[in-house]
Amino acid sequence: MSAAGEKIKRFSVNDVLARKGGTPLVSLTAYTAPMARLLDPHCDFLLVGDSLGMVVYGMDTTLSVTLDMMIRHGAAVVRASRRAMVVVDMPFGTTGEGPGVTFRHAARLLAESGAQAVKIEGGEEMAETVEYLVLRGIPVMGHIGLRPQMVNVMGGYRTQGRDARAAEQIVADARALENAGAFSIVIEGTVAALAREITRTVTVPTIGIGASVECDGQILVAEDLLGLFTEFTPRFVRQYASLAGEVDRAVAAYADDVKNRRFPGTAEMVAPL
Ligand code: KIV
Repeated sequence: MSAAGEKIKRFSVNDVLARKGGTPLVSLTAYTAPMARLLDPHCDFLLVGDSLGMVVYGMDTTLSVTLDMMIRHGAAVVRASRRAMVVVDMPFGTTGEGPGVTFRHAARLLAESGAQAVKIEGGEEMAETVEYLVLRGIPVMGHIGLRPQMVNVMGGYRTQGRDARAAEQIVADARALENAGAFSIVIEGTVAALAREITRTVTVPTIGIGASVECDGQILVAEDLLGLFTEFTPRFVRQYASLAGEVDRAVAAYADDVKNRRFPGTAEMVAPL
C-alpha cells in the first residue's frame, strides 16, 4: 500500500519484457532491508546478488555463498520493498547438477524468500535447465560474459569476448538463453561492441554491467555506486557518493563525544520522574 492507501503493483516479468528497446531498466543490488527500502522507489528491479559474499561478508570470491544466505537476504529485501521486482542469485554449486536439482533449489529460494525470479550464471550449457525452470513457473534472468562463479576457471576477473571465437560463443550463449525462455540477460564485463550486438540480436532485455550504454538496462552494486565498498572499485563503476568518508567522519565525531563525555546530552537521557 502507498501512504495514500492504494495498492502498489510490483514490477513484473512482463514489465521488464515491455522495456526492450525503450527507456533503460534501472537496477541495483540490495542485500539488506534498510538498503532495499532506500533503493526501491528508484529501481525497476533489485538484485539480491551473490556479490553479497564479498560486499557484506568480506569473502574473497562469491563461491562460499550458500542457498540459505540467499534465502535470508532475499526475504529481507522482499519485506522492505514494495515496487521493485526482486531477483535472487542462485549461488555457486546450486545450478550445476542438471534441471531437476536446480529446480528444487530455485523453488525453495522463491518459496522461502518471496522473490519473483532467480538469476543463473551460464550460457548454452544452462539452456536446458533454464527451460525446465521456466516451464515449471520459475522466471529466470540469465548472466553471461564475465561470470564471477567461474573465477577459478577464467583465472581471474577478466573482460570477456575479446577475440572472435570467444565473442561468437557469448552471442550463442545469449541466443540459447533467449530460446530457453529467460526473460532478460545480464551481460557483465564484455567489450562494448559485443554487448551492443547481443542487445540487437535478442528480443529480451539485456542488462549491462561493465558492458555497453546500449544495453536495455544497467545494474551496479549499490555499495560501489555509493562509495561504501572500498576494498576495490571496478573501472566500470561510477561513484555517485562517497559515503565511506561520511561514515568515518560521523563515527569519529561520536567517538570524540563519548571520550569527552559530551554524549549522551540532557536531551538524550531519560528525564527524572
Ligand atoms: O552478484 C551480483 O551482484 C551480480 C551483479 C553485479 C550482476 O551478479
